[in-house]
Amino acid sequence: MRLALLGGTGDIGEGLALRFARDTEHEVLIGSRDPEKARDAVESYEERLADAGASGDLKGFANEMAADRADVVILSVPPYYVGDTVEAVADQLDSDAILVTPAVGMKGDEDGMHYHPPGTGSVTELVAQRAPDEVPVVGAFHNLAAGKLADLTTELDLDTLVVADDADAKGTVRQLAAEIEGLRALDAGPLANAAEVESVTPLVINVAKYNEDMHDVGVKWL
Ligand SMILES: NC(=O)c1ccc[n+]([C@@H]2O[C@H](COP(=O)([O-])OP(=O)(O)OC[C@H]3O[C@@H](n4cnc5c(N)ncnc54)[C@H](OP(=O)(O)O)[C@@H]3O)[C@@H](O)[C@H]2O)c1
Repeated sequence: MRLALLGGTGDIGEGLALRFARDTEHEVLIGSRDPEKARDAVESYEERLADAGASGDLKGFANEMAADRADVVILSVPPYYVGDTVEAVADQLDSDAILVTPAVGMKGDEDGMHYHPPGTGSVTELVAQRAPDEVPVVGAFHNLAAGKLADLTTELDLDTLVVADDADAKGTVRQLAAEIEGLRALDAGPLANAAEVESVTPLVINVAKYNEDMHDVGVKWL
């Protein structure tokens, strides 16, 4: 399978790229608004993998080109740009492609981070509204800390919650996520439940802020 990480040059893109490249056989396409930046990111990720005694199948492209080639397109861009990014690549998406969003709207103040969804109720539902009708949207990876994913010396023992209305697309993304070592992908229901999943992200960031030795924490459901 070919996975594209649009904005894969950023924090969550780096973490997911390193884990997918190391732990799976899939081709990982790093997308960027600037293809040169994508290629530089690939070079740096390959060095990181080599340092960890691993390797992977990584390539860098402009976002549109990455989306055009991918079976699964992960929107690794900040929440305020996710809708425009979907529209920028909409014409390139195959009708059997899957769009995945990890984006969470948050606002910070002196107390911590607070969930700040768009008017659609969640960023995941905003993506569904802006995506072509035939392309299923899946929400996943919202509650994972990029720093933990990018540190390949850390063994994960975490869950990610997956929401979607399309059962096949949800199944594909759950299987894909579970190919990352130490990651379990749990079904959290339809897109209408995305706000509850997204809102866990500021919670885990606040727990990390207020407790010692809890940097880059995540959630495991027992
Ligand atoms: N960081 C985390 O721990 C984490 C965890 C879970 C979920 N998330 C979610 O993942 C998403 C990405 O987070 P991040 O921390 O990786 O963000 P980031 O590092 O700030 O940005 C990711 C990439 O987005 C692209 N970008 C920046 N401005 C843009 C614009 N105006 N239009 C289109 N693309 C733009 C950039 O790529 P190019 O310049 O190469 O185009 C950048 O490298 C967010 O929605 C966040 O809520 C993050």
